[in-house]
Amino acid sequence: MTDAFAQDVHHGLSSNPKCLDSKYFYDSEGDKLFQQIMGLSEYYLTDCEFEILHNYRDPLLKNFVNQDKSFHLVELGAGDGLKTKLVLRHFHRVKAHFTYLPIDISGNVLNMLRHELSRDLPGLEVRCYQGDYFDALDQLNQKEAGRKVLMFLGSSIGNFNQYDALTFLRELNQRMNVDDQLLIGFDLKKDPHIILRAYNDDSGITARFNLNLLHRINKELDGEFVLENFYHYPIYNPLTGETRSFLISKVAQNVRVGYLNEVFEFQMGEPISMEISQKYDRAMIYDLSEKAGFSVEKNFFDNRKYFVDSLWKKH
Ligand code: AVI
Repeated sequence: MTDAFAQDVHHGLSSNPKCLDSKYFYDSEGDKLFQQIMGLSEYYLTDCEFEILHNYRDPLLKNFVNQDKSFHLVELGAGDGLKTKLVLRHFHRVKAHFTYLPIDISGNVLNMLRHELSRDLPGLEVRCYQGDYFDALDQLNQKEAGRKVLMFLGSSIGNFNQYDALTFLRELNQRMNVDDQLLIGFDLKKDPHIILRAYNDDSGITARFNLNLLHRINKELDGEFVLENFYHYPIYNPLTGETRSFLISKVAQNVRVGYLNEVFEFQMGEPISMEISQKYDRAMIYDLSEKAGFSVEKNFFDNRKYFVDSLWKKH
């Protein structure tokens, strides 16, 4: 990881404007901070998706079961599987014919998940695939015959810009068979104040989540970032639906990154672009599904219509 990380950091901090890739937020400290974010009252996304999966666990199953056939439930980026367990428990209880195939980059996460599921849902068939999404899906396709229902939850698609989201979904589509399904979570456009608050919580956890990437550069790449010299600055553009977060340099400063043998110069007020969290509306979702080779079968909303888990079929 270090070399890809080093190269990306080098490229990002040499670019104008400077940027860092939010996929690197998730070291062990970042994982913990993200868990805390999911528990924040301002971060409505998690509650909304819990509500959807809870309220629609039965209709979801009915839509996944195609003419009484069994299916593989494939989860992309399983994490701690907290939300999925809710669905799995129900499917298991009603004796649905399915296997659960989680994919995650972290072997550690998968071991924990396998352990918990064998304890909590004995008899559930679970086979884990470790790796990046597409490599793991290629492996999975070689080993598992049968219909797949993919799940890509939590608005993870929002962390791609719109162009990259389409590229990603097209690649996913190529690894699916006709009639395979994808359940994908989108955070929806809404009152801009509500969105902005979700990325600017009062307790400052989201700020720490962003700053942690500078800390990671210090730790892993021998960087000399002084975290107090940067602050977190999120914005939301209601026209495009883009939430973006930046770290802003409070002062003019030079920061050395030893592993890269480079010194990066920051002006006072200069931003590092850190993350995009795209919000969607109905038209954008239909357009994206169509362009990526899917048709929308059904949309499952929370009561406030803040979030949707959209069920797509490959055509
Ligand atoms: C993981 N992802 C969907 C989160 C989001 O809402 O974009 C990451 C996050 N960033 C700040 N808060 C949460």
